[in-house]
Amino acid sequence: MKIYAHRGSAGTHPENTIASFRAVASLPVHGVEFDVHQTKDGELVVIHDESIDRTSNGHGYVKDKTLAELKGYDFGGWFSTKFKGEKIPTLREVLYVFKDTHHHLNIELKSDVFPYVGMEDKVYQMLKDYRLESRVVISSFNHEMVRNFKMLAPQIETAILFMEVMIKPDEYASIVGADALHAFFPTAFRAMGREAIASGRQFRVFTVNDEIYANKLQEIGVDAIFTDFPERMYQFLNRRIY
Ligand code: G3P
Ligand code: MG
Repeated sequence: MKIYAHRGSAGTHPENTIASFRAVASLPVHGVEFDVHQTKDGELVVIHDESIDRTSNGHGYVKDKTLAELKGYDFGGWFSTKFKGEKIPTLREVLYVFKDTHHHLNIELKSDVFPYVGMEDKVYQMLKDYRLESRVVISSFNHEMVRNFKMLAPQIETAILFMEVMIKPDEYASIVGADALHAFFPTAFRAMGREAIASGRQFRVFTVNDEIYANKLQEIGVDAIFTDFPERMYQFLNRRIY
């Protein structure tokens, strides 16, 4: 079972920061996941929430601030004084960290609350600039954006994110134009999980920090998990049992 480092290495570093991504860049895990929002001046930045309140010393929505304004805040000190001074990264800066590593990149487009019109085209252009088209999967809880991205760039892998116990996830993915299924981990143990695995699509499960659940997911045949503790989880899943 493969491991994706979630929001960088969110359990050990401030999530979605360059410090977090640099830590992942030297890990042997399969991939890394991060979240993208759009600023007032149309720039793409990597942050999980719609607002900067939880992960910075500022307040307000990303969509209401320019990139220059956002770069003025500290995105590391809330996690630990050791990381004080971390800036919000642009998508371009994060892609640069991974441009020459082996990691598969899961770019989550956070357009389910605010629509972020035009985001798909900008992401696609950057992937072409960095020649990363074959090393990414584009996912979103906004399935309209997944559909749009697939129409724009059929060669790039897409995934639908969902929290619900779904009926016929394989058929629904076909309707959307998604290649893979990214599911909330408790739902993986339902009939839906078995159906998803049997469908042959990549079935990746978030967010798994507990080794006991990781073991169970591996046993049922899940392809990959997202975890906030990639190094620890890698050691656990690759441990030798004598
Ligand atoms: O992409 C998997 C996972 O990141 C989805 O949930 O809220 O952590 O972005 P969230
Ligand atoms: Mg995410």
